[in-house]
Amino acid sequence: MMKCLYLLYIVFHVTAGCDLSAQTKYVYSEHPGGSVLLPCSCSDLHTKPHTFTWMAYIRGRLNDVLNDEHYRGRLQLFNNTSPGNLSLLISDLREEDDVDYRCRTEKGHRDMRINVKGCDLSGDKHQVVINGHPGGSVLLPCSCSDLHNNPQTFTWTTKRTGHWTDVLNDELYRDRLQLFNHTSPGNLSLVISDLREEDQRVYRCSTGLREYRDIWINVKGGRRKTSTRPGKTDRRPPSKQPPSKTTHSPPASSSTTLEQGKQQTHSSLLLVDILL
Ligand SMILES: *[C@@H]1O[C@H](CO)[C@@H](O)[C@H](O)[C@H]1NC(C)=O
Ligand SMILES: *[C@@H]1O[C@H](CO)[C@@H](O)[C@H](O)[C@H]1NC(C)=O
Ligand SMILES: *[C@@H]1O[C@H](CO)[C@@H](O)[C@H](O)[C@H]1NC(C)=O
Ligand SMILES: *[C@@H]1O[C@H](CO)[C@@H](O)[C@H](O)[C@H]1NC(C)=O
Repeated sequence: MMKCLYLLYIVFHVTAGCDLSAQTKYVYSEHPGGSVLLPCSCSDLHTKPHTFTWMAYIRGRLNDVLNDEHYRGRLQLFNNTSPGNLSLLISDLREEDDVDYRCRTEKGHRDMRINVKGCDLSGDKHQVVINGHPGGSVLLPCSCSDLHNNPQTFTWTTKRTGHWTDVLNDELYRDRLQLFNHTSPGNLSLVISDLREEDQRVYRCSTGLREYRDIWINVKGGRRKTSTRPGKTDRRPPSKQPPSKTTHSPPASSSTTLEQGKQQTHSSLLLVDILL
């Protein structure tokens, strides 16, 4: 009798194969650079599936994820410790990973989706004007709506002689720039210090072709007047950019420049709080 039951059990076990539990379709939202565990397991974790694949709609059609070049070095399976655990860990997520996924065994499949959300810039889409003064510094605010978002690429450019040029690697700004993305990856704000009158231009923070923010820097001479007043912002349509003025003010002495720089940074920080 016992033998019979045992045989029955063996037969059942073999024919049962890997039944996938729960068929609800889940959506997993993650940021670029993050990782996600796509759960999939046989109803019985000790069952080793006869066939098992992970598929994804890559390049418009269902492809084998485990052998795709696109995911190379970014995948981890857990079936070595428990053969029925077919879960897949995808790390270093990219925006192209934002597709439908399917875990499939001989006894069915399970669908899910990964949502990889890139950086949406927060704040005003219109051009913002920030006032600074020679020798002082200004903070150009720019950040992802979600500060935990880690944009894979972002740039700060400025329009010089009719072309957008890279600011971060420009000789002109050498040792005068400060970023904050190491403390908060989605904070792309930039501080330009030791301002010069020729810095008066439009600056653009961008994380993509459509995602960008423009900020106009006004560098006004007359250190006494501007150093005691916090920088002001206002909005102007991009067509009405303030004309570049050259003022002949005496250069600030090095000691007052430092003080001014601090004050200006402080007021700019307050200003950013209001802006964001
Ligand atoms: C885990 O799954 C992979 C992919 O199907 C397979 O190649 C591998 O042999 C499995 N490992 C174990 C220990 O079953
Ligand atoms: C499968 O393995 C992963 C990673 O160890 C674990 O997080 C998950 O809970 C396991 N799934 C099941 C159903 O045990
Ligand atoms: C901050 O941004 C710069 C410029 O894009 C980049 O080179 C650097 O790696 C970033 N730092 C961190 C911690 O992400
Ligand atoms: C980004 O960093 C600057 C400097 O620490 C800070 O003033 C600003 O508030 C930060 N922006 C956001 C959105 O947190």
